[in-house]
Amino acid sequence: MMDTRTKSLLFCLALIHAIQAQDQSGFISLDCGLPANSSYTTNLTYISDAAYINSGETENIDLYKNSYEQQLWTVRSFPNGTRNCYNISNITDGTKYLIRASFLYGNYDGIRSPPIFDLYFGDSLWVTVNITSETYTFNYEIIHVPSTNKVQICLINKEAGTPFISALEFRPLPDHIYSIGSGSLLLAFRYDIGSTSNIPYRFPYDVFDRIWPPINNDKYYDRLSTSLTVDVNQSENQPPAIVMETTIVPKNASRPFFFIWETGDENIQYYAYLYFAELVKLKPKQFRGFNISHNGNYWEGPIVPDYLSTSSIYNIKPLDPGKHHNLTLTQIENSTLPPIFNAVEIYSNIEILELESDQGDVDAIKKIKSTYKVINDWEGDPCIPRTYPWSGIGCSDESSPRIISLNLSSSNLTGFISTDILDLTALQILDLSNNDLTGKVPDLSKLSKLEVLNLENNNLSCPIPPELIRRFNDSLLSLSVKCNNEIVVEKKEKNKVVIPVVASIGGLLIIAIIAGIVFWIARSKRKQEGNDAVEVHRPETNTNVGDSSLETRIRQFTYSEVVRVTNNFVRILGRGSFGAVYHGMIDDIQVAVKMLAPSAIQSHDQFKAEECILYLYLVFHI
Ligand SMILES: *[C@@H]1O[C@H](CO)[C@@H](O)[C@H](O)[C@H]1NC(C)=O
Ligand SMILES: *[C@@H]1O[C@H](CO)[C@@H](O)[C@H](O)[C@H]1NC(C)=O
Repeated sequence: MMDTRTKSLLFCLALIHAIQAQDQSGFISLDCGLPANSSYTTNLTYISDAAYINSGETENIDLYKNSYEQQLWTVRSFPNGTRNCYNISNITDGTKYLIRASFLYGNYDGIRSPPIFDLYFGDSLWVTVNITSETYTFNYEIIHVPSTNKVQICLINKEAGTPFISALEFRPLPDHIYSIGSGSLLLAFRYDIGSTSNIPYRFPYDVFDRIWPPINNDKYYDRLSTSLTVDVNQSENQPPAIVMETTIVPKNASRPFFFIWETGDENIQYYAYLYFAELVKLKPKQFRGFNISHNGNYWEGPIVPDYLSTSSIYNIKPLDPGKHHNLTLTQIENSTLPPIFNAVEIYSNIEILELESDQGDVDAIKKIKSTYKVINDWEGDPCIPRTYPWSGIGCSDESSPRIISLNLSSSNLTGFISTDILDLTALQILDLSNNDLTGKVPDLSKLSKLEVLNLENNNLSCPIPPELIRRFNDSLLSLSVKCNNEIVVEKKEKNKVVIPVVASIGGLLIIAIIAGIVFWIARSKRKQEGNDAVEVHRPETNTNVGDSSLETRIRQFTYSEVVRVTNNFVRILGRGSFGAVYHGMIDDIQVAVKMLAPSAIQSHDQFKAEECILYLYLVFHI
């Protein structure tokens, strides 16, 4: 549609924009890789990105720098971690922004291997950055209204080279321009058509600091330009005057203009913004008018560009879908002059979700992070983007995601188990194994959703909170823990009789029960016998050869032996009310190893509460 604003309104707008044009207020210009706290001013004032990110390394491009704008001379690269995120917190929420990320590889790493990686805005994939040239600057832009005053932009390593970034820019826009029904806009391309300078114009030529790269095709089109000033304020989108002061006309007047682009995805919704200004003072009887069609269907017109004044044409509804898009400008019948075309922008629709993790979880995990000095990629929102949460963290898929698993296995953790973990109230899986944690285990049973708890290979002291043991016994929790760092399992073999053997070695209480009988096959017939604190399985009938011996052998197993016997608990035979039953081999004899827990035998006088046992095994021959 054409802009049809009254002159007085235009005059007001022109004044406002003239003031804005001298002003970068609201602009956020980050030069990525610039040393912390430094800044400089060219046409724009750039500051270091260091205050907005805690990871990455600063590097210099290996190109003739003066050919490039200064913000492209350094990059921040991210050799470590899957995700590295910027958190920009001085956004004015509810304001429409043009947000641009720029990438100039420039062989900064000296390996001549430009990467491919993903760029996320909030929870949404913004673009897959595919650096196909060392010397070309890749700019990606969205027009978006952030829902809060902080935004998170993440570079995601896709194992196709090290992600890096050159610059990150935010430019506030008037609310009423680039408005579409819903969603945000992703720039497909923007061109200064007919440019005679080959310079991409931006601020201060463009009040909103859009970048207008030059394009022309001298084979089919002639360039026209004017030394007079084109008024741009008649178009609310205000393309730069210098961009509007050049245009093209077809060499062959009867040949229409084609503006064509292809897409792999026919469902992409495109929005076109076309700009026209007449640069020729038409003689009497001269007339320039043309229609615009999209894929052969009439779209807009007739367009009759005003002399030295800007008209813009754009669609509020997306262009008809398709893989092939063809905007054609065709002279109308009574027109004596061919069409002209000064500038174009094509955007596609993008849905940007800016979610935030549950605030309680965020507070808790940040405390845990500072307690254990976890570095890896723990920056920004732990669950956002949901496809790439912090490493070791699993999240629910809700719109305000919860942390449901925490795996800090083999992370060199020292000190006590942080009680801040208790504030991760949605936690289902907690793995703190293979660290050097000391002290007592807090009552993690308060985490009512906890299903898996692995505290193995630490230096924890006893006792284990009985409530945890109870949950384990009730098969509500898979529990792997030992305290006082010593596990002994005894094996006793006796015909059909199960004898719990209790021993105490160095303050450690041991129990091991061996039924020298096949039980697993006869599982359905099993019955409980003897000690009600210990679950015992045995066959109903005494048919087992080798059972004739009533000899009782007692053997002790260290924890590492049990690991060996069960081949690191690799094969689970089944689950009983006390937990998993594992397959094992002792001296070529197949055994079933069943893990028990202290509360199961706490009725025994021999067992005192403070002398906790972590692993109890029932070892059955099978
Ligand atoms: C040319 O035709 C269009 C309609 O197709 C009309 O709006 C315009 O006024 C005409 N111009 C001249 C100079 O006849
Ligand atoms: C925790 O991570 C380690 C390796 O990173 C993995 O071996 C282990 O299975 C994970 N734990 C759980 C409970 O998934």
